[in-house]
Amino acid sequence: MSSSTKIKIPAKLDLIKIRQDFPILDSSINGKKLIYLDNAATTHKPLCTINRMRDFMLNENGTVRRGLYSLSINSTKAFDEARERVAKFINAKSYSEIVFTRGSTESINLVAYSFSSAFIEAGDSILISGLEHHANIVPWQLQAEKIGAKILVIPVLENGELDQEAFSKLIKTPGLKILALTHISNSIGTINPIKEMIKSAHAEGVKVLIDGAQSAGHFKVDMQDLDADFFVFSGHKIFGPTGVGILYGKYDLLEIMPPYQGGGEMIEKVTFEKTTFTTPPHRFEAGTPAIAEVIGLASSINYLENIGLDLISDYENELLNYATARIKNFKNINIIGDAKNKASLISFTSDLAEAFDIGTLINEYGVAIRVGHHCAQPVMQRFGVSSTARASFAFYNTKEDIDSFFIALEKVLAIF
Ligand code: ALA
Repeated sequence: MSSSTKIKIPAKLDLIKIRQDFPILDSSINGKKLIYLDNAATTHKPLCTINRMRDFMLNENGTVRRGLYSLSINSTKAFDEARERVAKFINAKSYSEIVFTRGSTESINLVAYSFSSAFIEAGDSILISGLEHHANIVPWQLQAEKIGAKILVIPVLENGELDQEAFSKLIKTPGLKILALTHISNSIGTINPIKEMIKSAHAEGVKVLIDGAQSAGHFKVDMQDLDADFFVFSGHKIFGPTGVGILYGKYDLLEIMPPYQGGGEMIEKVTFEKTTFTTPPHRFEAGTPAIAEVIGLASSINYLENIGLDLISDYENELLNYATARIKNFKNINIIGDAKNKASLISFTSDLAEAFDIGTLINEYGVAIRVGHHCAQPVMQRFGVSSTARASFAFYNTKEDIDSFFIALEKVLAIF
């Protein structure tokens, strides 16, 4: 056998080592070991990120792009390198296509405002889907009301997938300017076929924004392959700090979009009569940015890439399959969302107890899950529920975590 034909031993995550990188996972809640299953809401940060931010604030802190002294010059260099790091992580064509914001929500608000100001007129339409988080509904509604544009919605099928037949008609709507679509539903886990949908939108001359809040950090995302016009995600959901988000935008679009906020460092020239603006990405970054957070984010990205995004997605999928098979053994539990292609989360209701009661009582066993409408009320309305309980997994979770979750769930349901 030549070396190239030898069968490779499948690579595995070193879970013992990984869990040591996240000391919080070793802590206790209510006298019980913490079982953290709310990764769709926020993820924990590895020690390398915490240490990098601490070092920066302790020894290197300086403003960026505003000082000629060493602390500022070095901070600017680290900040710029972090932007390069993000660009490489998502395979953007250039550094200038990465705008730092406070999170996915601010990134979508920025595009909704600036894109609408540049391209949307009264009578035009904006297409979203029935799976969106409020953050990809409300910013568009605010603009649509102001401009007199219409919001159209791709319906959701019973299994939680988007109705592609309806999409293929909606995308041909005359005057449709943008499709704003989630990559993965935060509430029920459906992974949308975004590459195909982006292609269909572009064939009709429609631009596309993808909400990648639930996908980046769990799957490889490649801007040049996907060809989305805009893609947004949050630092804190990719094992990085809160307070920093990313807007990727194709440069030719960013270049003609007006600023979203005004302030320092986004201008070319200011007089009382008129202000002209600098080029992207800085045009969209008014004020002092979240410097330590951006630098910490680069550390988290290095950490994820050292493990390997493919390994992470395969393992998270294994956790999903394991948990789904086990939860199906429960009587009186209904899984909401059964898409063929699903991210590593399970949303469910019980005939015995309200989601709110499950979430509160299961915390007594150290289990952290989210309950409620998950900022996706239209999804709840679609499935005729007011709330669900949602367990969402990350690569640092183990099958033992899932076993402990189900033991606790059984005890909770026994009360009712
Ligand atoms: N969007 C976050 C979630 O789904 C907060 O929980």
